Amino acid sequence: AKDVYLNWNITWVNAAPDGVERPVIGVNGQWPCPQIDVNVGDQLIVDVYNGLGNESTSIHWHGMRQEGSGVMDGAVGVTQCPLPPGSHMQYHFDINEPGTYWYHSHYAGQYPDGFRGALIVHDPKAPFEYDEEFTLTLSDWYHQEMPDLLSGPVVAGGKEPFPDSALINDSTNTKIKVLPNKTYLVHIICIGNWPGHFWVIDGHEMTVVEVDGVYTDPHPAGDKFLRVATGQRMSVLIKTKADTSKNFAIWDTMDVNMMFFFENRTMPENYNPNATAWLVYDEAKPLPEPPVFHEIDFNDDFVDDVTLVPADHQPLLEPVDHQIIMDTGGALVDGVPRFTVNNKTYIGPKVPSLYTANTVGAEFSSNPEVYGQVNPFILKHNEIVEIVINNHHNNLHPWHLHGHQFQVLQRTPVDGGYYTGLFSNVSATPIRRDTIMVQNHGHTVIRFKADNPGIWMLHCHVEWHVEAGLMATIIEAPETFPNTVHAPPKSHYDACAAYHQPVSG
Ligand code: C2O
Repeated sequence: AKDVYLNWNITWVNAAPDGVERPVIGVNGQWPCPQIDVNVGDQLIVDVYNGLGNESTSIHWHGMRQEGSGVMDGAVGVTQCPLPPGSHMQYHFDINEPGTYWYHSHYAGQYPDGFRGALIVHDPKAPFEYDEEFTLTLSDWYHQEMPDLLSGPVVAGGKEPFPDSALINDSTNTKIKVLPNKTYLVHIICIGNWPGHFWVIDGHEMTVVEVDGVYTDPHPAGDKFLRVATGQRMSVLIKTKADTSKNFAIWDTMDVNMMFFFENRTMPENYNPNATAWLVYDEAKPLPEPPVFHEIDFNDDFVDDVTLVPADHQPLLEPVDHQIIMDTGGALVDGVPRFTVNNKTYIGPKVPSLYTANTVGAEFSSNPEVYGQVNPFILKHNEIVEIVINNHHNNLHPWHLHGHQFQVLQRTPVDGGYYTGLFSNVSATPIRRDTIMVQNHGHTVIRFKADNPGIWMLHCHVEWHVEAGLMATIIEAPETFPNTVHAPPKSHYDACAAYHQPVSG
């Protein structure tokens, strides 16, 4: 175990990932943002300076449980204030879980402007062997900046701006040089904003070994497309060929059903939802052409993540102590269309929820002025919690819970209907993950144990939808605060004070 120390200045830089130049948010003058590599047991320390000049920011470490370090979660409104321009803040936490993660700004729909990157936790005890590894990030990409895109009549479903391109490793021209006859561990991370991505490595059998930081029983996916929703990750093993005379394509296609057809929107002519990267065996040989439009048949053309089995065979959590049913809908709030959870839209508080909780201990839960707009669900320490999410929209929603890897008991297909109390598909050892795609007019059922005291966001990972209020707050084991949840360090309080400082002019 070691300390991994990073000193980051967050600034705008210019980049042209798909040939069109625009300002993007980079780290230390570089973009794409760097991949962080750590080992299980390390401590990660990141000193962040906001050099953007015109926007606040934060960093969330997506998928990290943050046991005892929930104040480092980077979730603006819940665990910290926005870090204003010209201010500094330190994140530091222990890395306890292996696998594929990422980091991103958790402020005001900001990360699709480029502030996102891979966080890989290496594990000498991983239950599989490999010789080499590489990472593929998949995302949708926009030529306009998020504040402009979010200022239109955008967000509450059916009016999302269409991405201009799809990127693999923040580029439309990624080449991965490989060696023959080796086993590669490939980390895939969907760092995008909106549509799900279907991807495949042509000509190579893929075996899934991890999703969202949970090792799986090795699952042969053959040459089927795999789907990752925004926020989801997976790792696959591939064996490279002995014959180096040919190069191969890596294909990614954004979910056109989600973007156009479920919402009855017209796809612009010549719209291209595809991205191609290449496995390069021999640089002197030609690269295969990008494919033409490829539409995926939901039903039999891809591997469904809920069929995966976790390698540690953790049994189904039961009996349930606390069931939460969330019906998602929409409403006009002050004339603006918003998303709702059980009829209430999320509006972030000025003082982060965790700060209030630390100050007033368990009594905070009876304070509706502070918590009335954040869709709070209060859990008791160590109870087994079941959350049902009924998706009443035309659109799909990748729901993400901070602080946990929940068990997935059920996910219906498109138009699969709402929760009736019956499970059709309970495996004895359900897969665990931290982000689950909930199909339109369908539902999902998840369970976890409330063994990680803290305050955690539960939200759709589409930034259009977060900004339209599709979020809830899980207040976990407040009766154990403040003993279980450390107070924010000075740099976090200072950032808060700076953020709330009246601008003098
Ligand atoms: Cu990837 Cu609430 O975050």
